[in-house]
Amino acid sequence: MIAAIWDTPYNILYLVHIFSVVLGVGMAFIAPMMAVQARRASGQALADVVNETASKIMFPMFLVTGIAGGAMVGLSNDVYDFQQSWLSIGGAIWILVLALTAAVYPPTWLHLFNIGDDRKRMLGGMLHLSLALMLVLMTWKFGV
Ligand code: HEM
Repeated sequence: MIAAIWDTPYNILYLVHIFSVVLGVGMAFIAPMMAVQARRASGQALADVVNETASKIMFPMFLVTGIAGGAMVGLSNDVYDFQQSWLSIGGAIWILVLALTAAVYPPTWLHLFNIGDDRKRMLGGMLHLSLALMLVLMTWKFGV
């Protein structure tokens, strides 16, 4: 056995998972507020700086979140498996989170979609909802 649930390797993955969640989810909720304040205080250029910073951080963080999460499932000695609904539904929502992030906050190295500001606002709302749902799933762990 390489490692077991709640061993040091598992806990390192857990730490990486939570750290990337804090940065990604925090950024997803705070960046839109900061962008509005920045636009009001100093105009569009500063709002663009906020959105560009969010775009640098959010997608990579959510990628790391899911990879660390999947690795935890693998190291959990079948305490967690993808048959459990919180993980199968969570996996699907994670893909949705990545797609929405790539649409609303695309990193410079990943330009998949060309989307106008109105649609970005709507998709940004969906991103918030998906993240809130994800936090509920991860906390309650339905189906364990
Ligand atoms: C944006 C996506 C995600 C968010 C916001 C998120 C958030 C969280 C949070 C806050 C916890 C701590 C809850 C707790 O331990 O009681 C957690 C735990 C966990 N997450 Fe995620 N997660 C995400 C994606 C994933 C994915 C895609 C997987 C699996 C492929 C996953 C697997 C796990 C596992 C196995 C735990 C439990 C660790 C343990 O209790 O030992 N997560 N997640």
